[in-house]
Amino acid sequence: MKNVLVVGTGTIGEPLIGLLAQHKETLGIDNVYFFKRTPLSDEKGKVEALIRKGSKLVSTSDALDEFKNLGFEPENVENSYEDCQVIIDCTPSGNDNWGNIYSKLDSKKRFMAQGSEHGFGPFFAWGINNEQLNSDANKYLIASCNTHNIASIVKSFALDSDRDLLDGRFVCLRRANDVSQNDSFAPSPTITKHDNQEFGTHHARDVYELFKQEGIELNLFSSAIKLPTQYMHTLWFNLAFKDSVELSSVKSDLENSEYLMSTEKLSSNKVFSFGRDHGYHGRLLSHGIIAIDSLHVKDNNLTGYCFTPQDGNALLSSVAASVNYFYEDSWKEKMEVFNQYLFKQI
Ligand SMILES: NC(=O)c1ccc[n+]([C@@H]2O[C@H](COP(=O)([O-])OP(=O)(O)OC[C@H]3O[C@@H](n4cnc5c(N)ncnc54)[C@H](OP(=O)(O)O)[C@@H]3O)[C@@H](O)[C@H]2O)c1
Repeated sequence: MKNVLVVGTGTIGEPLIGLLAQHKETLGIDNVYFFKRTPLSDEKGKVEALIRKGSKLVSTSDALDEFKNLGFEPENVENSYEDCQVIIDCTPSGNDNWGNIYSKLDSKKRFMAQGSEHGFGPFFAWGINNEQLNSDANKYLIASCNTHNIASIVKSFALDSDRDLLDGRFVCLRRANDVSQNDSFAPSPTITKHDNQEFGTHHARDVYELFKQEGIELNLFSSAIKLPTQYMHTLWFNLAFKDSVELSSVKSDLENSEYLMSTEKLSSNKVFSFGRDHGYHGRLLSHGIIAIDSLHVKDNNLTGYCFTPQDGNALLSSVAASVNYFYEDSWKEKMEVFNQYLFKQI
């Protein structure tokens, strides 16, 4: 049996469980289990919806009775740890869970954690560094949303286009919290400290480390500021190349990019709203959405803005790394089922 366990049903876990469960036949996955830790009556609807999508609830032995009182038939998560070959951690405790639980399981399984669990394993971003999945590692760190976005800008406009990148600078204009969350809202623009002497913030560091895994060392720097909005992150970027660059060739690289799409929309609420209506679980699944009219070229500098689907890109990478585990030879064909959610221009 080819089984996947998703741990956590929050902003990342919830749509990931749906994405896997609703496409499991096409992806060749037999069972999708999800581990919900806390039985909450106000989250009963979420659990019911995920079960309706074809996934199965599991929890710890001490929570099973309470879940039964809520009307569910949960199984013990200990069985899923054994029965699932792929375990995707979608909690803010991926590194702790590795130490306490996953490291004691069969090392032939594949484990994944989400972007903020730095050090969990090599970075993986679908389409950006697929070859990482051929390594001997049994655990991967799914790149965060901004890492996906910055990495695809660097890959599309520098690496894939054979332009020598001297310097890449990025400002992550971050939404304060997700529309699903109550806490951490920012009442005013709030700056993130430049606590990394080399890279500014961890965003440039993460992209540097991702490409360094393939032996490519880039000169990158990032800043971040949280804005009082719940609609998407927006990324400002400036790439300085060795040689001068033409706007028309940048636009043609964008057209050919597998990871980026473009939009004439200039506000994140318009882009978010398109995702709500036409994305999966309201998410756009591309790595980034370039505001085409923001692209600016002067001499050897390319500047622009790109909207970040704040979790959609990471969702597809988690699914890709799961399918790759089971179907090393045909995983890319199986992933084509998601083309229905991808757009070139919105
Ligand atoms: N949100 C984003 O846009 C985003 C983007 C990229 C990466 N990430 C990263 O992805 C991870 C998850 O983020 P999130 O926003 O989805 O978090 P979230 O909405 O706060 O949800 C966290 C989930 O994890 C569960 N959980 C927490 N600790 C657990 C444990 N020890 N064992 C089992 N379940 C546990 C919670 O379960 P109960 O409620 O049942 O207790 C909850 O379902 C974080 O590391 C985050 O930094 C988030």
